Amino acid sequence: MFTILEKRDLADKICEYVFEAPLVAKKARPGQFVILRLDEEGERIPITLADTDPKTGRIKIVVQAIGTTTNRLHCFEKGGAIADIIGPLGTPTHLDGFKKAVCVGGGVGIACIHPIAKELKAMGVQVTSIIGSRCKDLVFFEDEMRAASHELIVTTDDGSYGRKGLVTGPLAELLQGADKADVVFSVGPVIMMREVAKATKPYEVKTYVSLNPIMVDGTGMCGACRVSVGGVTKFGCVDGPDFDGHQVDFDLLMKRLAMFKEMEQQSLGLWQKEGCKCHK
Ligand SMILES: Cc1cc2nc3c(=O)[nH]c(=O)nc-3n(C[C@H](O)[C@H](O)[C@H](O)COP(=O)(O)OP(=O)(O)OC[C@H]3O[C@@H](n4cnc5c(N)ncnc54)[C@H](O)[C@@H]3O)c2cc1C
Ligand code: FES
Repeated sequence: MFTILEKRDLADKICEYVFEAPLVAKKARPGQFVILRLDEEGERIPITLADTDPKTGRIKIVVQAIGTTTNRLHCFEKGGAIADIIGPLGTPTHLDGFKKAVCVGGGVGIACIHPIAKELKAMGVQVTSIIGSRCKDLVFFEDEMRAASHELIVTTDDGSYGRKGLVTGPLAELLQGADKADVVFSVGPVIMMREVAKATKPYEVKTYVSLNPIMVDGTGMCGACRVSVGGVTKFGCVDGPDFDGHQVDFDLLMKRLAMFKEMEQQSLGLWQKEGCKCHK
């Protein structure tokens, strides 16, 4: 069992959890994820490592409650325990050989871009980060991202905090500068990552996006996480989750993510009707 050592509300339906998982903390690299199971019968859900500390053996994750399992997790309090944390999984983000990077995080993806920005800065890369949320109440990890970057730009869709508009606004300005970045990393909603890749393509700036296909085993065995990159089928869990944003078939990814919508809604409805008794 893995005990929740800390739990912090970051925004509406977005919480940060700290667990002790020394083996994961020791091996994890930026861009990798874990698979959680709340109990023996629970579904397996992939979640990116938002931070790790090999010295204390602690890992941090940030989870947005959107369906049954993530809402069930939100009912757990500090001191509660979940059945499994498996990882680190996935291929770490490729970080070598860059001088100037832009890290773009949207929504819960802000937590996922954090270890990438942090490591790049530690490696001596000049890091500008752009984090975007729908509104002020959903902005989180501002201090963490400021510490992990040389410059931080915050955007909100409605202009209630930071710059009004989408993350692609400031990104376009940065790309037009004479001393533009040689790489862009982006994690967030699929539509955002597609637009980031569209924005960087004319400038031929290498762009990595972290894909979130539905995953089951997370080790390349089941094929659930198939994505198409440059016309070739790849497995998100082992070949990714990072891929060349200019090569990804985003439409196919969106279609595959919506495949089980009806069942997911039924499951959430049932759980809400029965009330949460899962971790008691
Ligand atoms: C590599 C990776 C890293 C991720 N990191 C984070 C993170 O750091 N924080 C976070 O909040 N979310 C993250 N996600 C998304 C998270 O896994 C889903 O939100 C979660 O699985 C939803 O489960 P549910 O039962 O609550 O919702 P459901 O109702 O089952 O599903 C809601 C939606 O979540 C997606 N989803 C459902 N099951 C899976 C699955 N097994 N694998 C992937 N997506 C699924 C689908 O788009 C689905 O429509 C990540 C996904 C991937 C693939
Ligand atoms: S999740 Fe099964 S192959 Fe990737």
